[in-house]
Order: sequence, then structure tokens, then C-alpha cells
Amino acid sequence: MDSLLCFTLFFCLLCLSLFPPFASSALLFQGFNWESSGKGGWYNSLKNTIPDIANAGVTHVWLPPPSQSVSPQGYLPGRLYDLDASKYGSKDELKSLIAAFHAKGIKCLADIVINHRTAERKDSRGIYCIFEGGTPDSRLDWGPHFICKDDTTYSDGTGNNDSGEPYQPAPDIDHLNPQVRKELSDWMNWLKTEIGFDGWRFDFVRGYTPDATKTYMENTSPDFAVGENWNRLSVGPDGKPEYNQDAARGQLANWAENGGGAVKAFDFTTKGILQAGVEGELWRLKDSNGKPSGLIGLKPENAVTFIDNHDTGSTQKLWPFPSDKVMQGYAYILTHPGTPTIFYDHFFDWGLKGEISKLSEIRIQSGINEKSNVNILAAEGDLYVAEIDNKIIVKIGPKMDLGNLIPPNFKVATSGQNYAVWH
Ligand SMILES: *[C@@H]1O[C@H](CO)[C@@H](O)[C@H](O)[C@H]1NC(C)=O
Repeated sequence: MDSLLCFTLFFCLLCLSLFPPFASSALLFQGFNWESSGKGGWYNSLKNTIPDIANAGVTHVWLPPPSQSVSPQGYLPGRLYDLDASKYGSKDELKSLIAAFHAKGIKCLADIVINHRTAERKDSRGIYCIFEGGTPDSRLDWGPHFICKDDTTYSDGTGNNDSGEPYQPAPDIDHLNPQVRKELSDWMNWLKTEIGFDGWRFDFVRGYTPDATKTYMENTSPDFAVGENWNRLSVGPDGKPEYNQDAARGQLANWAENGGGAVKAFDFTTKGILQAGVEGELWRLKDSNGKPSGLIGLKPENAVTFIDNHDTGSTQKLWPFPSDKVMQGYAYILTHPGTPTIFYDHFFDWGLKGEISKLSEIRIQSGINEKSNVNILAAEGDLYVAEIDNKIIVKIGPKMDLGNLIPPNFKVATSGQNYAVWH
């Protein structure tokens, strides 16, 4: 081999080791909860928390749905371009908040609620089916042709049949209509260029075909995007989750693939397994191949892990993590592959800022990323131990006697109630 070729090869290998391809180490923060819209001036108050969020190594913040909405939380939006009628603050306050995050190197995700949309007024027949975009021109000014024909609650729709699951509280939008895809893509690109958003959190993606998500991804090229495909775990006759959750995580993986592959999915499978596991069933965390049992054991680069969000936790508590074991949950997701999410409530309201920040610091210093390798050393009822990338070892569960699982050259990096991390 001549020396130039040798040098080139060496240089390539050096680059690869310094900048491993496709191994992002993003860390997401959900910057609101179910009550934030009622607090008065949420955008302004969130601004004061940016130093703490930045100190935790967060790379992306998920902000609430920005548009005018019939419900204060923003999940029944109507005039999508109208960002001044939001209960979280004005358009200018939102732009200022995003600029402040950008100044700390943190990117912002908009909560994109497009499965359904509330109409502005009734047509001549007295049916609510006239949509207004919220601009002086005709952008997103739609009529019944944009509502799915088989929407049984809003029976005046004349579009295609719904390409996903029905949603009762508002008209379902026809995402098979090319004009819908074009106008919504234009709106999302406006959120990028005019407001400063960098990426998306897609709400209720079960409501429309992933092929539409693929179009929105292609047309808007987000820096980061994740979809809420809230599917259920397989449940056994005893009402508890089955051990094997390949069906649930397979659905998430398929959805991301059909959405074009770049979009990620919230890892509802890992959440379900983990919150059952910390109740004395930590054997759940190792699948039959010896890998993590959630989406992170199948397609970690597409998995966004979380403990609770504004629906599952907060004041709604639709599927809450056991509240006294939340830190075991963070010890798991912040040491494991996938993209972990920190929830506002846990970080600020529950006083866990210090413990969570310490775990994320260890994650960053150890170079743990979305594709890190997991070597599970123990998965019993009251003990889970795993080594990640041969760099750190994490333990969760109440069992104290770890035998000789922890090599003597590993030192405790942090610990708390029923969890510890060594490096
Ligand atoms: C649309 O949905 C209706 C109601 O479910 C059904 O009767 C009809 O066959 C569907 N049309 C098509 C083209 O699938």
C-alpha cells in the first residue's frame, strides 16, 4: 500500500472515530404540561428556565401547539396561522422564546396537530365546515371537501375516506388530498422561516396515513421529528402486559419506516414495559434475544424514550409511571440508546433537576448515543443491570447484593434511591 493511500485511510478512520456516522446524541425536553396554558404567559416564564434546561445538556425542546385553538391546551386548532390567539402567549413572545433557546444552542420543535381541525363557522346549511387559515389571504381557507367523507360526527365531509383512525372531537382532515399536503407543508415551512422552529412533534399520527407524514418530512426537512403513535401493549388474561411486546414495538418501527425512515416514534413500548418492570418485574427489560424489550431494542435510532408526558402524566394521568419510581425510569432511559425525553414536571415541579442533570451529564461524557450497544448483565424481578458501550454500567431495582457483576475498575458515577451508575 503506498503511503498516500495509507494516510488517506488513516484519516478516514480517524474521522469516523471522532464523528461516528448516524449516531446522534440528541436529548429532548418537553417544555410544558397539561396546565401550562392556564398559567398566563407560558412562553415568557419558560424563558427564565432556559439556563437550567441548557445545563442539563438538552439539545431540543418540544413546545406546545402554537395556533389558535378551541381548547386552551392547543390540541383543537382552527386558524393555524393565527399564533396570537394562543393561551401560551403571543407570536412575538414565541419568536423571542425560540431565539433565546437558539442563543443557547437548543433547537425547538413545534407540536403539529393536523389530524383534525376545528371549523371557524357554519355554512348555509348550518353545519360547521368553513375553515379559516388566519391570514388575510386564502391560505388554509377550506370547506367540506377537506373533511373525510366517513367522518361520522361531521357528516358533511366530501373528501376521501379517512386514511387513519377517527377522532371524535373535531372534523378529520383528508390527508389523501394533495392540496392538504401542499398547504400544510407550506404552513410548516412558515413555522420554520417566520417563527424559527427547527423540527416537529406530530400529534396523533394514528389518525392518518404515514405516507402523509413522509410527504411532510420531505417537504419540510426538519432537523428532528417525532410522532405520537400511542399504541397499546399486548395484554394477557391477567390484565398485565405480556412479556413479548414485539407486536407493539413492531408497529412503531413500521410506522417510522413508512413515514420515510427519518421520523422517530415515541417509544410507548419501552414506557409500558419499564413502568411495569419497576414494580418488581424487571425481568421484562430483557427480550428473548437478550436485547432491550422496547423499540430501543429493535430500532433505537427511531426511538424517543420518555417517562411521562402531558397526557400520560401531568394532571391528566392517563397512563402514569409509578410516581415513587420515576428516577429509576430516568436512570434507564438516560443510560440507554434512543433519544431520551425529560419532562418539565419531573425536572422542575418534582425537584428532580439535580438527579436528572447528573445522569444526562454522565450520558454526554460517556458518549452514549441513540445507537449505543446494550449488554444486559442481569434482569430479575428486583434487579436490572446493563453495561452500555463498555463504558458505563447502570443498575435499577431494590436488590442490594450485586455479587461480582460490577468489575472492580468501575467507580460509582451517581446513585439515588434504587439506582446507580458506574463508569
Ligand atoms: C368509505 O367508508 C364508508 C363508511 O365506512 C364505506 O361504506 C365505504 O365503502 C368506504 N368507501 C371506500 C371507497 O372505501
